[in-house]
This record gives sequence, structure tokens and C-alpha cells, in this order.
Amino acid sequence: MQRATDNLRADHALTTSAMAVLRAVARQVRAGALFPSADGAVLLRYLREFVVAVHFRKESELLGPAAAMYGDEKTAALVGELMRLQDEAAELVHSLVLFWEPEGDLTPPERDGFTSTVDLLAQRMNRIQELEEDQLFVTCDRVVPLDDHLGWLRDFTALEQERGSSATWEPRIRELAARWLR
Ligand SMILES: [Fe+2]
Repeated sequence: MQRATDNLRADHALTTSAMAVLRAVARQVRAGALFPSADGAVLLRYLREFVVAVHFRKESELLGPAAAMYGDEKTAALVGELMRLQDEAAELVHSLVLFWEPEGDLTPPERDGFTSTVDLLAQRMNRIQELEEDQLFVTCDRVVPLDDHLGWLRDFTALEQERGSSATWEPRIRELAARWLR
């Protein structure tokens, strides 16, 4: 049986690829290349529509509250810290969207703003995924009853049907990774 945490780890792997592409984009923009508008749009939509609107919700609305309830005080503090980091990451994603231009290029200050926001977001996402995979998911697998895990998988499916699934995003992110991460 797939555990709910396996589903979340698979989301993380896809997000790690998307962030690697975004960092490659930022490196080129920093070096003076034209802002890649179409690829940037796909990445920003993935972050906003999947990472923030689907993946973070799986964790903040389902996993986190249960882990805080079944776990000890340390787990409750970890859940609080993760929710704070996710809010920061969501704000950074929102800021990045403001830099996106349908055509034309970024001004020098916009280039700086875009690339430093990407750097901050990459740091936050690394930290979030590390804390979740090393601590939160391990605790959930240990202390949360199996019935809850099954319920989460059903809720994950419903959320993805409503807001977009990782399966839909995966080929688009793979295609970007194949071009940008050579
Ligand atoms: Fe996560």
C-alpha cells in the first residue's frame, strides 16, 4: 500500500526538479539573458497552483494537525515551524509572480529582485522539505493510525481532482528539466 507520506515525497521530488530549473533560469537572467517568459510562466503556475494550492494544503490541513494531535510537544512545535515556513514560501511565490512579464524583458532592478527572490525561495523550500522528510513524515508514519493515512490518500485525490494533479504537471516539469538542466 502507498502511504500518504510516499505521495508527499513524490511531490517533493517533482518540486526539487522544478526548483532546479527555476534556479537555472535565475542564473541565466542574472547573467543578462532575456527572461524566458513561456518557461517562467509554467514554473510560476506550478509553484502557485500545485505547490502552494495543493501540496502545502495536503500538509497544513491534513498531515500537520494530525501529527500535532498524536505526537508529542516537540512534534507540535515542528508543525508550527513548518506552517510558518510554508507561509513565507507562499509569500515568496506570490512575489515571483509579480516579476513575470508576458513580453519584453526585466529592468536591471527587476532582474535583481527576481534572482534574489528565487534564492530565498530555494532556501526555504530546501529547509521545508528537509524538516518534513527527516522529521514530520517519520513521526506521522510512526504515530498516526493507518486509517488516517488511508483517509489522507482519499483527500489528496479529491484535492488534486479539484485543483490539478502532480501527474498533470510531471510531463511539463520533466520537459523543462530536460532542456534547462543539461
Ligand atoms: Fe512538503
